[in-house]
Amino acid sequence: MQQASHEREAWGSRVGFVLAAAGSAVGLGNIWRFPYVTGQNGGAAFVVIYILFVLLIGMPVMVAEIAIGRHARRNPVGAFRKIAPKGLWPLVGFLGVATGIGILSYYSVIAGWTFGYFIKTLLGAFSQSMTSEQSIVVFNQFVGNPLIAIGHLFLFILFTAVVVMGGVSAGIERWVKILMPLLLVLLLILTIRSVTLEGARKGLEFYLKPDFSKLDGGAIAMALGQALFSLSLGMGAMITYGSYVGKQDNIIVSAGWVCFFDTLVAILAGFLIFPALFARGLDPASGPGLVFVVLPTIFAEIPLGSFFGAGFFLLLTVAALTSTISLLEVTVAYMVDEKKWRRKPAALFMSCLAFLLGIPSALSFGGVDWLSRMPRIGLGFLDLMNIFMGNYSLTIGAFLISIFVGYKWGMAGIRAEVEQAGAVFFFRKTWTFLIRFICPVAIFAIFVYIVVTKNYF
Ligand code: PFF
Repeated sequence: MQQASHEREAWGSRVGFVLAAAGSAVGLGNIWRFPYVTGQNGGAAFVVIYILFVLLIGMPVMVAEIAIGRHARRNPVGAFRKIAPKGLWPLVGFLGVATGIGILSYYSVIAGWTFGYFIKTLLGAFSQSMTSEQSIVVFNQFVGNPLIAIGHLFLFILFTAVVVMGGVSAGIERWVKILMPLLLVLLLILTIRSVTLEGARKGLEFYLKPDFSKLDGGAIAMALGQALFSLSLGMGAMITYGSYVGKQDNIIVSAGWVCFFDTLVAILAGFLIFPALFARGLDPASGPGLVFVVLPTIFAEIPLGSFFGAGFFLLLTVAALTSTISLLEVTVAYMVDEKKWRRKPAALFMSCLAFLLGIPSALSFGGVDWLSRMPRIGLGFLDLMNIFMGNYSLTIGAFLISIFVGYKWGMAGIRAEVEQAGAVFFFRKTWTFLIRFICPVAIFAIFVYIVVTKNYF
């Protein structure tokens, strides 16, 4: 990370921003969340809708967020305030900061499991062949133990806080450059084993043969939420990262790369999980434990399986870390820019908040009964956070951002920003149409539908 000519930090290079933004985007959302929501929502048809949303909503909103950030050179609250000093727009930034803490709290619980599974695999817990029943028992024992769950949550938030205290990305650029390609390689190795298992075919069919009768309004809302979550959109993470982007970068090209990498990893994760899942006779709709139950059943079937398995969970932990860094960074940038706190106390304070808020999520997999299945709703606390923070809050954020850029900041404003230093605004007309009409109308329609049909979860 270099010091820019003004006081604000900047990414080392254009590749630096793409790497950091891809680091934020690629994470548990791709490898943990994408397969299980796809499993819960019927498979291939969900994937088709997901890809449509990445292209029609994710991509335009990504460009909008980066442009807002680069233009204002501030955190989300300050950015809205700078571009539209009067009115309520900074509230969109506040919503983002609150959502950042909310997502960080439960995301770190799952990231903690990932780290725990790295240690377990390394110690040889999965070196013998495992049936799916055995794998389920191991998983339930692990996540149901309150001390283990809270301990891992603590550890993971600590990792995140330490990195963020050090400055925006002293290291993110360098780490991501080496570790992401490595994660892809391990993903490929495990996927090859998964698709060649006996009985894998059914999984491929589930994943690739769309049956649109399985889609309802709830599934469509989930696909949209998943696309935004996976791309880190709707809460200002890309506004914050965009605020460190140099004026010579082409925002459209950068956004295109980030969307491409992120979608590639998610699609690959599906090829890893579904064949093995069907080969092992597991239920695709079994929820957040999916990846942790499926993967250990194939490690013993691969030469050096414990080694590759441990490597995979380690890299996934790092991928999660580069995402939690961006979540925490949004809140820290807010405290530093707007409240004039120093970086270290701000990071410490916000991570303590996230830790406290994460405790009920950590206890919601058997640790405490009523948190695991909450009265009336029938969902666990983490599931609830995941739906409200990780879906609806991001969706509302993306809706407001598209209205802001499309109608308040306006096309002239954004155009001047994107075309800085002679950069070409590729697909400008299409983009304008998407951000002004398709994004807000589609999101609004989905909301009305789920409210009317009471299909919230
Ligand atoms: N995009 C991350 C993932 O897919 O794991 C999660 C995330 C990070 C969501 C940052 C939102 C965000 F602002």
